[in-house]
Amino acid sequence: MPRAGGDPAVHSTVTEFPVITTTGLTKVYRSGDRDVTALDGVDLHVREGEVYGVIGQSGAGKSTLIRCLNLLERPTSGTVTVAGQELTSIAGRGKRAGAQLRAARSHIGMVFQHFNLLSSRTVQDNVELPLEILKVDRRERSRKALELLDLVGLADKATAYPAQLSGGQKQRVGIARALAGDPKVLLSDEATSALDPETTRSILTLLRDLNRQLGLTIVLITHEMDVVKTICDSAALMKNGRVVEQGTVAELLATPGSELARELFPVGGEPSADDRTVVDITFHGSAATRPVISELARTYNVDISILGAAMDTVGGKQIGRMRIELPGRFEENVVPIGFLREQGLQVDVAAVAAVADVADAAPAVPAPAAAPLQKEGAK
Ligand SMILES: Nc1ncnc2c1ncn2[C@@H]1O[C@H](COP(=O)(O)OP(=O)(O)O)[C@@H](O)[C@H]1O
Ligand SMILES: [Mg+2]
Repeated sequence: MPRAGGDPAVHSTVTEFPVITTTGLTKVYRSGDRDVTALDGVDLHVREGEVYGVIGQSGAGKSTLIRCLNLLERPTSGTVTVAGQELTSIAGRGKRAGAQLRAARSHIGMVFQHFNLLSSRTVQDNVELPLEILKVDRRERSRKALELLDLVGLADKATAYPAQLSGGQKQRVGIARALAGDPKVLLSDEATSALDPETTRSILTLLRDLNRQLGLTIVLITHEMDVVKTICDSAALMKNGRVVEQGTVAELLATPGSELARELFPVGGEPSADDRTVVDITFHGSAATRPVISELARTYNVDISILGAAMDTVGGKQIGRMRIELPGRFEENVVPIGFLREQGLQVDVAAVAAVADVADAAPAVPAPAAAPLQKEGAK
């Protein structure tokens, strides 16, 4: 196995095979005499070979979702299918379920925020632990553990103890351990939340390399948009136990009014006066190189102010976003806005105050901007 070192020539491994599917996944916790609905009918679709981000505020149900994906947590209702196996139906088989579930789970690796390493065991013995449980013989265990430690860049730490490692190194051990059963899917619950920004980047790079080199599907939970931006092919936004948006990053960015898109790619700028129309334009691919703004100004003889603009790479693709201001209210700008849409640009009318009055005239206008996601105090 080659060491995961960031070969830029290795490209996306995403296929259309649905490697994780949940239908109507619901989890209700009984808490005293109160019921807490942590998951409320989640239909998740993760394709093979993708890095899939689940984002949401604290308490949204992210951890419950990921723990239900490997049935560490038993769902109250709904189904979970991983790599063609319906885990929820295995779990329903009573007595014989244990061994079958363990076998199915071995195809699902998990990485935790606080690493969960055994302090009394060496790095190598920590990585060997899942192989011991799978009753792999000693020599093969050792061979596999050393290979995995090499893969995550820790070949020289096999005999060290967790206490002798940095946070980033501990998480690398956690990742090596999660890979011991040759999983098809790696689940990561806030794996970088306890790490500093630089270490976070190196762990994300490692995860991306593993995804690309091994074709490993990764579901990662995070409350940080930057994580999604850096490595995710697709993302879901959770609120109150529900998935309220999901799709590929490109689809989300092309969805008018998408909250995830706005969070992934914010562009600021306040209108200069009340009677102005503020429009957010998103450029994908070739549209970014055409002089649409100057064409717009010339064709309709309007003065256009640029309030904000940014180019960025999101989900591995170049995206541009620009916030412009047109004189006059929305109803006076229907034609220029139509022109922009005809150019194949994604156009979101952002002037919320002015929009309310003309809601009937402009049914395509997105909902007002919601409050941005709050950062959890994770440390
Ligand atoms: N074991 C549990 N017993 C009771 N309630 C729980 C339990 N685990 C989670 N919850 C509740 O379920 C909801 C979702 O929690 P969680 O999945 O941990 O959210 P997140 O990971 O997005 O912060 C929260 O209201 C939380 O308090
Ligand atoms: Mg959580």
